Amino acid sequence: MVYRASVAGRTWFPDVIEGRLVVLRRHVPDNLTAFRRWYRDAEVARLARYQDGPMSIEEIDRFFQARALGGESMTMAIHVRGSERLIGTCAFSQLDADNGSALYHITIGERDAWGHGYGTEATRLMVDHALGTLGLHRVSLSVFEFNERAIRAYAACGFTVEGRAREAIWRDGRWWDELSMSILETERRRGAQERGEDADAPAASNGARRGLDERARRGIAARLLGR
Ligand SMILES: CC(C)(COP(=O)(O)OP(=O)(O)OC[C@H]1O[C@@H](n2cnc3c(N)ncnc32)[C@H](O)[C@@H]1OP(=O)(O)O)[C@@H](O)C(=O)NCCC(=O)NCCS
Repeated sequence: MVYRASVAGRTWFPDVIEGRLVVLRRHVPDNLTAFRRWYRDAEVARLARYQDGPMSIEEIDRFFQARALGGESMTMAIHVRGSERLIGTCAFSQLDADNGSALYHITIGERDAWGHGYGTEATRLMVDHALGTLGLHRVSLSVFEFNERAIRAYAACGFTVEGRAREAIWRDGRWWDELSMSILETERRRGAQERGEDADAPAASNGARRGLDERARRGIAARLLGR
């Protein structure tokens, strides 16, 4: 059974997750203006959407209310560290308490912020939060085969390709596969060990959660997921 969690307890969402390049914060209503700009962008839509062309303003507004402000998913705004410039959004949806898994999404909507390492770090922070702090087991995602920048960012964070929907998308005059990628907690732990890092240290500046044992992390996950 797939359990689509309605994440009621927003206390289990971090207020902030700090990295070296970016700071992830909860969305605020004023971020809607940026959301509209990002999701009206034709190139963002080309890279990330099945449909041909961007969302309508009405779709974006609904998406923002449900995803960024609502409790359907855990969505964080991506800010550049230092300047605080808002450049994008990243999220977990389909939080599945029965199987300890979640689906990951990211959009850096400001094009001039592409290729600076922000997406890779935001993804790593989110994966560390899910698999480390919250004790989930698996994070997965989907990406179009032609989106090389995204695939490289995900690979750098430890995701591996586990499958492909062959010729699932028609774009730029030809068929492309949609790749399924995932990372397991064991792989994240192994990667951290290889880099000489502490896999149990939280990604967030949330020192209070440092050193939580396995049972405590699972408890947090269960409460996050409303179980
Ligand atoms: C995909 C995305 C999150 C990546 O974040 P980013 O900050 O732009 O990427 P990074 O700077 O972290 O770089 C990621 C990798 O892509 C590489 N890269 C950068 N520009 C590239 C380009 N034009 N073509 C191919 N690879 C590129 C980088 O070298 C890096 O790879 P490496 O670590 O092997 O060197 C971001 O570009 C984005 O949101 N794009 C628009 C929406 C989108 O595609 N979302 C994902 C849908 S699945």
